[in-house]
Amino acid sequence: MQTATILVTGGAGYIGSHTCIELLHAGFKVLVVDNLDNSSEESLKRVEQITGKTVDFIKGDVRDAQLMASIFADNKIAATIHFAGLKAVGESCAMPLEYYDNNVNSTLVLCQAMEKANSKNLVFSSSATVYGDPEVLPLTEDMPLSATNPYGRSKLIIEEMLRDLPESDKLKKSDNPWSVALLRYFNPVGAHESGKIGEDPSDTPNNLMPFITQTAVGRRAELSIFGSDYDTVDGTGVRDYIHVVDLARGHVKAVQKLLSKDGIDGVQAYNLGTGNGISVLEMVKAFSAENDVAVPYKLVERRPGDVAACYADATRARVELDWVAEMSLEDMVRDSWKWQSLNPDGYTV
Ligand code: NAD
Ligand code: UD1
Repeated sequence: MQTATILVTGGAGYIGSHTCIELLHAGFKVLVVDNLDNSSEESLKRVEQITGKTVDFIKGDVRDAQLMASIFADNKIAATIHFAGLKAVGESCAMPLEYYDNNVNSTLVLCQAMEKANSKNLVFSSSATVYGDPEVLPLTEDMPLSATNPYGRSKLIIEEMLRDLPESDKLKKSDNPWSVALLRYFNPVGAHESGKIGEDPSDTPNNLMPFITQTAVGRRAELSIFGSDYDTVDGTGVRDYIHVVDLARGHVKAVQKLLSKDGIDGVQAYNLGTGNGISVLEMVKAFSAENDVAVPYKLVERRPGDVAACYADATRARVELDWVAEMSLEDMVRDSWKWQSLNPDGYTV
C-alpha cells in the first residue's frame, strides 16, 4: 500500500505542499497537478529539499477534462486529494461565477475522470464555513449546514454532489464503489518547522495569521482587530486554529483509511480542528510572547459576515481516522513567524 501513488490537485499551494511532505514521509508517491494560479513551483522544489524525495508535477488546470483523463490513463492512482480551488470569501462575492467554475466544475471534471478510470478514492478539502453561523458549539459533523457567501456555497454544493455518488454505485451494482472523505478544516495556520515552506498570499491577506506575520515583519503598519464587543472571553472573535502540519497529517490518515480494508463506506465528513477556541487578542499576545516581536494593532468595527466563535468537536476524526491535532499554540505562532521571517516576501524565486 505504501508505494501507492496519490494524485494531489492544488499540491503547490499552502495546505497541499505541507501534505505532500507528510505523504512522502509516509512512503507514498506523489503526483501534483496545479495551474500555479495562487502558488509557485518553488514550493514543490522545497518539498523535495525537505524530504529528499521526488514530487512529480504537471502544470495544468483540473477543469481540463482531456488532461485529467490522460493523467488517470498514464498513472495508477490509488487515491486523489483535491485541494485545487479558489478560497477568498470577499472575492467570491465579487466573482461568484469564477468561484463556481473553479471549485464546482473542477470537482465535476475530476470525478468524471476518476469514475472513467475506476479510481474512486477521494479526499476533498471542505471547510468549517459549511456550518454557516453556528448556534451550538463545539461543532459536530451532523450539525445543520448553510452558506453565507459563494465560496461557502461552492463547498456545500460539492459536498452535496459527492453525496450523490454512493447511490449511483448501488444502482449500478458497482464492485468498486466511491469512497470519499470530506475534510472540514477549521483555521489552518503555521508552517513546516524548517521555515522553507508556508503560506504566501499573493494579495493583501484576509486571514488573521498572515496579517499578523506581515505586520510583525514590517510589510503592514498595523493589524486591525475586527470587533471587540463579541460575547467571548475578551470581546474579540474566537476560532479553532490548527497547525498546518497537523492538518496535513489528517490527510495522510484519511488516505490510509480509504486504502485500508474497511475503507470509508460511501461519503463521510470529518472535522479537522483542535477543539480549542482562541481569541484574536490571545493569538496576538501568544505570537508576540513566543517570538519576542511586536504586533501593533487597533480595535475596529466587526467585519461583516464574521461569527463570534467557531470551534470543532473532532471526535469522529479521532475515532475513525486515528487522528488528533498534536501541535500547540506556541508551535503555530513560532512556525508561522519562522517562515515569514526567513522569507519576508514569500516565494520570491
Ligand atoms: P492555496 O490557494 O494555497 O492552494 C490552492 C492551490 O490550487 C493553488 O496552488 C492554486 O494554484 C491551485 N489551483 C486553483 N485552481 C486550480 C485549478 N482549477 N486547477 C489546478 N490548480 C488550481 O489554498 P490552500 O489554503 O492550500 O487551500 C487548499 C484547499 O483547502 C482549498 O480548496 C480551500 O478552499 C480549502 N480550505 C482552505 C482553508 C484555509 O484557510 N487555507 C480553510 C478551509 C478550506
Ligand atoms: C475565514 C472565512 C472562512 C474560511 C476561513 C479559512 C470569512 C467571513 N470567513 O474565516 O470562510 O473558511 O477564513 O480560510 O472571511 N481578524 C482580524 N483582523 C484581520 C483578519 C482577521 O481581527 O485582519 C479576525 C476575524 O474577525 C476572526 C479571526 O480573526 O475573528 C479569524 O479570521 P480569518 O483568519 O479571516 O478566518 P475566519 O473568519 O474564521
